Amino acid sequence: MDKLTIEGGSKLSGRVRVSGAKNAALPLMAASILADGPVTLRNLPRLGDLRTMGLLLGHMGGRVDPFWEGEGDGHAAILDMGALSLPEAPHEMVKTMRASALVLGPLLARHGRAQVSLPGGCAIGVRPIDMHLKALREMGAGFDLSGGDIVAKAPKGGLKGASLRFDTVTVTGTENIMMAAVLAKGRTVIANAAREPEVTDTGRALVAMGAAIEGLGTDVITVEGRDSLSGCEHSVMADRIEAGTLMAAAVTSGGDVTLEGAPLGALDAVREKFAEAGALISEGRDGSLRVSAPGGRLKPTDVTTLPHPGFPTDMQAQFMAMMTLADGASIVTETIFENRFMHVSELRRLGADISLEGRSAVVKGVPGLSGAPLTASDLRASASLLVAALAAKGKSELFRVYHLDRGYDRLDEKLNRLGASIVRGKG
Ligand code: EPU
Repeated sequence: MDKLTIEGGSKLSGRVRVSGAKNAALPLMAASILADGPVTLRNLPRLGDLRTMGLLLGHMGGRVDPFWEGEGDGHAAILDMGALSLPEAPHEMVKTMRASALVLGPLLARHGRAQVSLPGGCAIGVRPIDMHLKALREMGAGFDLSGGDIVAKAPKGGLKGASLRFDTVTVTGTENIMMAAVLAKGRTVIANAAREPEVTDTGRALVAMGAAIEGLGTDVITVEGRDSLSGCEHSVMADRIEAGTLMAAAVTSGGDVTLEGAPLGALDAVREKFAEAGALISEGRDGSLRVSAPGGRLKPTDVTTLPHPGFPTDMQAQFMAMMTLADGASIVTETIFENRFMHVSELRRLGADISLEGRSAVVKGVPGLSGAPLTASDLRASASLLVAALAAKGKSELFRVYHLDRGYDRLDEKLNRLGASIVRGKG
């Protein structure tokens, strides 16, 4: 297993390019199941979860031809699901990546049946997919459970449009149902839909395939079903969470970093909180975003995670890492997942003063952190440990780096280009 050895204390500086968004690329890859022709996706990040999704599509009989477009342009891939013969997502794949459940809606819509292993819990919470299933049932699908798999069938004549409302906002649930609805008979209305930019990016690609979708970016999405969809070309939006993570690393290290290609319109809540903490943020004429630390210590800043356009749960851990060095106490409240504080005990090992009170963490800023051995527990927790370790005095070792590699496109290399000292090794 890979580990990272981090020598903390360097102020990050320079320019860095933001990669394509994991959480847009995953549903976009699943959407290729719906198309009659090949789907070309550009600006794909190189990361573990996308490889898993590629393997899953290949397992089903599809073709995924990745190609490299050169520095700065990222990866691209042509996905051709014309020869899909096995509409199933087996346990080995779903257990390493819950987002495998995103193939359920497209498979039911395009092939009328699907067998998808039921995702179990994960480090950050129970995370069921009951709301996905309830909505598909309202569209006429039937489900059986067999050996831990959901065996799903569309009614004769295919899924039917329906008027749906999610009890709480669900990102992949909205994507799954939107993808099911584009080939359903008639109109589907999804109320309390997720407004996350990744949902909108997926919807835009579906529209480029010929789907009729209205209300993207609002909490009511309306879809008129079509008989078939064509292939398309689509460039994946930039990753707002990678951008935010780089911002946190820059500011916590006391540095000055310029992000190229950051998704400016998708970062409002994050930028607001960084500004409240005293970070200096400015947009360049070329669309870049410059982020630098204040002269003195950061100001303590409370955050509460919320569905978009609120502060993203995927930035909670990294922002908490930043607040460990603020000049006072901050309260970080997690409302999306019930167990997303796995990073707290590891941050304490670096000298952070954090106490947990239910869904909130009280972070009392300390003047300095010092290096320690650290174990990553999930994707964003590992990113927060990296942010803190870069600002800590001395050496830290981060174990179980595969969590980081699942969702970041070589983050250690990017940080090193900004002046960090991170060595990848085995351990
Ligand atoms: N939920 C249910 N039932 C459902 C669906 C969701 O109870 O049927 C609950 C979840 O357990 C959670 C809440 O509803 O408490 C919201 O979950 P949501 O469905 O929105 O999460 P998700 O779609 O599984 C996506 C991202 C996550 C991100 C969340 C929230 C992808 C592939 N994953 O997950 O990303 O944290 O939305 O924004 O898009 C990450 O990248 O590190 C990550 C975990």
